Amino acid sequence: MVSDAAHAPGAPTDTMRDLSLPRHIALILDGNGRWASQRGLPRTAGHQEGLHAVRRAVRACRDRGVRCLTLYAFSAANWSRPKDEVDGLMRICKEFAESEHDELVANGIRVEVVGELDELPTPTRRAVERLVKDTAPGDRMTLGLALSYGGRRDVVNAMRAIAVRAAAGLVIPEEIDEASLRSFLTTSAMPDPDLVIRTGGEQRLSDFLLFESAYAELYFSETLWPDFDASTLDAALTAYARRQRRYGRTSEQVATP
Ligand code: IPE
Ligand code: IPE
Ligand code: MG
Repeated sequence: MVSDAAHAPGAPTDTMRDLSLPRHIALILDGNGRWASQRGLPRTAGHQEGLHAVRRAVRACRDRGVRCLTLYAFSAANWSRPKDEVDGLMRICKEFAESEHDELVANGIRVEVVGELDELPTPTRRAVERLVKDTAPGDRMTLGLALSYGGRRDVVNAMRAIAVRAAAGLVIPEEIDEASLRSFLTTSAMPDPDLVIRTGGEQRLSDFLLFESAYAELYFSETLWPDFDASTLDAALTAYARRQRRYGRTSEQVATP
């Protein structure tokens, strides 16, 4: 079973933390549209219902001592959906930022945005910016919101920023390494995800955290996002705790400290 030790009093430091519990979970929230279609409802009703699942996911991760949770809520590619649906998603995102504000502040959960916040409509952007600002002192857990996020684009933007510096003589190409590229990604403040969970049954990353997920464990659940609850999370955590992360080494090497 997965231990709860990471948030107990005198919680372990990173070097002695419980490795069977992921430090960073990245969640691809998929299946809202199908959940709604199955009920003869418009797709936006599925997104609205998905908001309850977001609340359950944040609480369940917090209760289990997960230090960082990133939610893929809106991809750069999702702008190509019908306007009504995009408008609905932006409205729901604003609603989330407002309705969860007090609970997130009270629980010490710091919100960070990955992706291009500037591309969001002003009311949504403002509500999210306020949430980020007011939750900034939180140190119990980080909640990442991937909004207008694309993994390839994030890498391209980082490379462009480095190229501009190189052209100005501020960066020597030979000195560019993983750490320097990373520092220009919008995810730079977060650890790499240990576990990527996708609901809705599809088995793909859909441009989520491509660079950062190099050694993440992947878990795919048939549960549609609006039905996600603590039991879905626990099934993923149990599967994760059974995996052996090898990073290129042999199983025997990993087993021998
Ligand atoms: C995920 O649910 C929410 C977003 C991508 C914003 P979908 O809307 O993709 O739901 P399905 O995949 O069509 O069921
Ligand atoms: C991925 O879901 C994006 C988010 C969950 C925000 P999609 O439903 O957009 O992914 P595809 O199109 O099925 O790959
Ligand atoms: Mg989908």
